[in-house]
Amino acid sequence: MKLQDLIEQVRDTFNTAIESCHNVKDIQDVQIHYLGRKAGVVTNLFKELGVSAVEDRPSLGQQINDLKEYVTKSLVIREQIITEKLEKKTFVDLSLPGNPEFIGRLHPLTLIQNEIISVFEGMGFEVATGPDIETDYYNFEALNMPKDHPARDLQDTFYLEDGNLLRTHTSPVQIRVMEKTEPPIRIISPGRVYRKDTPDATHSPVFHQLEGLYVDEGVTLAELKGALLAFAQALFGQEMKIRFRSGFFPFTEPSVEYDFSCIICDGKGCSTCKDTGWVEISGAGMVDPAVFEFVGYDHEKYTGYAWGMGVERIAMMKYRINDIRLFYENDIRFLEQFS
Ligand code: DAH
Repeated sequence: MKLQDLIEQVRDTFNTAIESCHNVKDIQDVQIHYLGRKAGVVTNLFKELGVSAVEDRPSLGQQINDLKEYVTKSLVIREQIITEKLEKKTFVDLSLPGNPEFIGRLHPLTLIQNEIISVFEGMGFEVATGPDIETDYYNFEALNMPKDHPARDLQDTFYLEDGNLLRTHTSPVQIRVMEKTEPPIRIISPGRVYRKDTPDATHSPVFHQLEGLYVDEGVTLAELKGALLAFAQALFGQEMKIRFRSGFFPFTEPSVEYDFSCIICDGKGCSTCKDTGWVEISGAGMVDPAVFEFVGYDHEKYTGYAWGMGVERIAMMKYRINDIRLFYENDIRFLEQFS
């Protein structure tokens, strides 16, 4: 038989042989049979070259090389097909539960903040924001806290090298909004605030407040109480009560501290409310005329109420959490519980 025909014949028999390989051992046998160094069928073809006509050798040599490459590649591909099939057979168990995807979710503080915002939006308030880095003017001065005021104490406030500071409350947003807008104003302003507090179960150097401000002609303290009561009931249920105690803030006159009835014991008295039946929320009051002067409002014409609110405190009540640090530790087991 001519070498040319022999090459074709080897290719045909190889094709049949590889088709009937069903495991790695079959592949190895075929490989040795065709490519074996001493007596492989393809290897032997090279030996035949020596007895063919000199002028045919380059072309025949090329053909044998091509065949060798074809055989090599085909063996690799066949092995891949076989092992993939084996893997599928071994590992696909339709009764196994799937691998659940980890789905991110909103942080509990974001959830509660969104809920608070939506309640006040329902009463006609709009969200306004201000910067975390504030000037002394907005954080203190324009809120009627002059240079020697104790609230400016270095021990409580993070001052920056350039003389600015990290805002200690969200009240500066009141000034920023009033400066730019004529009454009527009805805004809430959620955001981070910073104080030099040592972290413990109820203190964190970073926490969140939500400020509220309503300015118009004829606004009264009774309306403030109505708004805060409506809020408390929307968030915690119709049986909620609120109360005002007299307080002092430089930017309100009169000023009050406001409490919600304790949701843990329904106001009967427990350890959370220290047996008083009430939980302190924050401060509020009627905007001090001195503040209106700073923003150029006519305090004969307008009155307004304002309040602060600790977002963590509301979240702790709502979700019954007893340590504020949990909000900042990013423990997935804690965060997973909120959706
Ligand atoms: N800014 C006060 C604080 O951080 C809370 C506050 C009190 C806000 C009275 C007000 C207010 O708007 O009227 O403790």
